[in-house]
Amino acid sequence: MLNEKVTALLNEQVNKEFYSAYLYLDFSNYFEARGLDGFANWYKIQAQEERDHAMLFYQYLQNNNAKVTLEAIAKPDKVLDSDMAVLQAGLEHELYVTGLINDIYAAAHEVKDFRTMQFLDWFVKEQGEEEENANDLISKMELFGSDPKSLYMLNSELAARVYNAPSLVL
Ligand code: FEO
Repeated sequence: MLNEKVTALLNEQVNKEFYSAYLYLDFSNYFEARGLDGFANWYKIQAQEERDHAMLFYQYLQNNNAKVTLEAIAKPDKVLDSDMAVLQAGLEHELYVTGLINDIYAAAHEVKDFRTMQFLDWFVKEQGEEEENANDLISKMELFGSDPKSLYMLNSELAARVYNAPSLVL
């Protein structure tokens, strides 16, 4: 049996990850309208990964005999008024999600729930990668964003991103 608080936090995380997917779809939508289809592709794939994250939490709860409660997904609330604002919002969001994962980890640690800690280890690593990716995009945009030719090439690089299913299998 999972601890009540740990269960509640895991359940909330299902919602937060679906929200992340929703947020990144909004980012994709922004770049589609800008004509930057590579950036749009990058965030669309990011949204798919977030949906996968949500499903991993969902499945983990079910595997541990906890009933999942699905709540309403909030409307994406970031102000997307420039390319850089979108990238910054992405980093800000990932830092927030890292904090959420850490909070669940701490709650599991407190009740010696080693199984949940082990499950979360994958997410701890994943968050490191997500933050790095978000930082990389910001650095590249700072370097190349103001030059149309370089922006075109960066857009082409991001167009090449393909979806990979998560390496964690439950
Ligand atoms: Fe599910 Fe981008 O963290």
